[in-house]
Amino acid sequence: MRLTLLAVLWTAASAFGVHSPKERRAAFGMLSATVNKKDVVTTENLALLSPRGRDAVERLIAFDLEGHQAHVYKNWPAAGEDDHGKQQLAEQLADLDASYPGGLSAYLSKAKKLLQESADGVNPFDEYEAVVPEGEVLKFGEESFRQAEQIGLAASKDVVFCLVAGGLGERLGYSGTKLSLETNLCDNASYLEFYCQYILALQHRARQSDSSVKIPLVIMTSGDTDAATRQLLLEQKYFGMDPQQVSIVTQDKVPALKDGFAGLAMDDRWTVQTKPHGHGDVHHLLYREGLVDQWEKEGKTHVIFLQDTNALVVNSVLPTLGVSIQKEFHMNSICIPRLAGEAAGAIARLEHKTDPDKSLVINVEYNQLDPLLRTQGDGDVADPNTGYSPFPGNANNLVIEMKSYARTLRGEDQGVVLEFVNPKYKDATRTEFKKPTRLECMMQDIPKLFQKEMKQEANIGFTMFDRWYTFSPAKNALEAGQEAVNAGSSAPGTMSSAESDMYIQNQHKLQSVGVDLPVTSDDDLIKAGGIPVTPGPRIILSPAFALISDDLKTVEGPMKVTRRSSLVLSGHNVKIQQLELDGALVVKVGPNTHLTIDGLSITNKGWELQELDPSKDYPETVRIRGYTMAKHETAEYVIDEPGHFVLDASGVIRKAE
Ligand code: UTP
Repeated sequence: MRLTLLAVLWTAASAFGVHSPKERRAAFGMLSATVNKKDVVTTENLALLSPRGRDAVERLIAFDLEGHQAHVYKNWPAAGEDDHGKQQLAEQLADLDASYPGGLSAYLSKAKKLLQESADGVNPFDEYEAVVPEGEVLKFGEESFRQAEQIGLAASKDVVFCLVAGGLGERLGYSGTKLSLETNLCDNASYLEFYCQYILALQHRARQSDSSVKIPLVIMTSGDTDAATRQLLLEQKYFGMDPQQVSIVTQDKVPALKDGFAGLAMDDRWTVQTKPHGHGDVHHLLYREGLVDQWEKEGKTHVIFLQDTNALVVNSVLPTLGVSIQKEFHMNSICIPRLAGEAAGAIARLEHKTDPDKSLVINVEYNQLDPLLRTQGDGDVADPNTGYSPFPGNANNLVIEMKSYARTLRGEDQGVVLEFVNPKYKDATRTEFKKPTRLECMMQDIPKLFQKEMKQEANIGFTMFDRWYTFSPAKNALEAGQEAVNAGSSAPGTMSSAESDMYIQNQHKLQSVGVDLPVTSDDDLIKAGGIPVTPGPRIILSPAFALISDDLKTVEGPMKVTRRSSLVLSGHNVKIQQLELDGALVVKVGPNTHLTIDGLSITNKGWELQELDPSKDYPETVRIRGYTMAKHETAEYVIDEPGHFVLDASGVIRKAE
């Protein structure tokens, strides 16, 4: 029926001699404006609905002058038939109305405009020129890095962490919450556990000068991840955090849209299809829940936004915070070197050609960067001196200064970042979609709001680190990773590559303080589950053991680790005078335990990666990683007792004299 109507309108539009997509849409709008409003919901049907449901339906009808939503409210069966469905739809419309700032009509109006611009191929950067913005490039081990890290450490007692974790993780293909996945198979810490460990380590350090410090963590969940995240926190007793310091804000899904007129897509007659809105929701939610106001009052100075499955990012949190303080950045994006043409967003300064107030520093998606740069030169090409794009690659973890953030969020947009649409069109007429689309928003687009509120005062920059040090997210399913590797990628983004990169990063750290160990180069990588990974040594240094680079100096004397070894070091006060390892060693000490390892030499069968047996069934978490870890033999020392202890050649822990 609907198809017939469309076909009639389409033929009519053609008959009027309108052929461009724009003309066709205008003609369609004109014709569909004649939808007969007599057919709208009858009084008897309206009487079935709750007051809020009725209001929502009536609002939709009143808004829908052109009849693009007629399929939602027209031709309802008479009262008595399908009443439950009608009520359910009305309640859902009321929910959608309430959850979007400005209501469903605001959402649909924005969507229509953006869909029109998308179909017309409007270039959002028409009036801009891109230049490389101001920022800092820091290298682990260099003095500028150390200084920034120290400044960050001194300021860390006043930060707040925000973890955006509402994503479905379709690419990873995991049915549970990504935060529950294990970062590695040596200490088996989940992503959420690891982030909590990091925050607790920072807090512990800050409490040495101020015992009242409590560093808040906010997790943004969505309908897809909320229950599992809450359950994980409860089951694991908040990973040692005070439940009072953890809050959860939940983002809502938004209506899916079936056509270029923002017609609501339906799952069935009585259910509007909804889809995730993107991590850009986080800013409005933090504002709406009053958290930003509260933090500002409490004297918190920065919010640090992290993503769900990139454990390496914690390395760069403090130096980035330090740079934010040094350069008085209102917003600072953690970046990595970007290859020219790489499918990664870049941070750019967009100079407005006529109005300096409209200039801003912001992420530009890779598919927009090349066309923009072509209007000014050769396009997205490498700098011949570095071999990389001159524009830093956005790893999309942000440090935002609190006062300017609060001021920006109090502006008229209330933190609702500019949305975009990305429909996949069926054909060149750009009117019909392959599947429903929706408005999306990204947290890195907040600079548009900073610029709106603060004009040229907005000071936004970046801090760039080596990729090995800060960026190895687990985003892709094993099969997708294998395909990427076969196509020549060195960053498959799987659970296994993220785990391997964690070990390699710790190899680098220990090597920097003179530990005798092989650091894995690209040529050394072996394949596990089809993904190149380190052959070892597998090293996990907990955030408490090495919160900052200077902490590595607790390795004071000779230390040797062979390639086949696995090592876990955890605790604030572990000092190494002398250690040799050829096998597996786990040392975990409590927050007030001081342990010196002096003369310990361990040789045992150790641990081994084992490929999966294709004839066997494995749990989902194992399948997506592609291997298991056989722990044949382990030397394990766990001590919680406060005090000073020594672990020497005897292999026995004794009290220090
Ligand atoms: P990703 O790009 O990893 O997307 O999100 P995703 O939705 O989680 O995974 P795919 O695309 O379905 O495979 C980057 C970060 O943003 C969060 C994710 O949880 C992740 O930390 N995110 C994403 C949200 O919080 N909300 C969203 O609507 C989308």
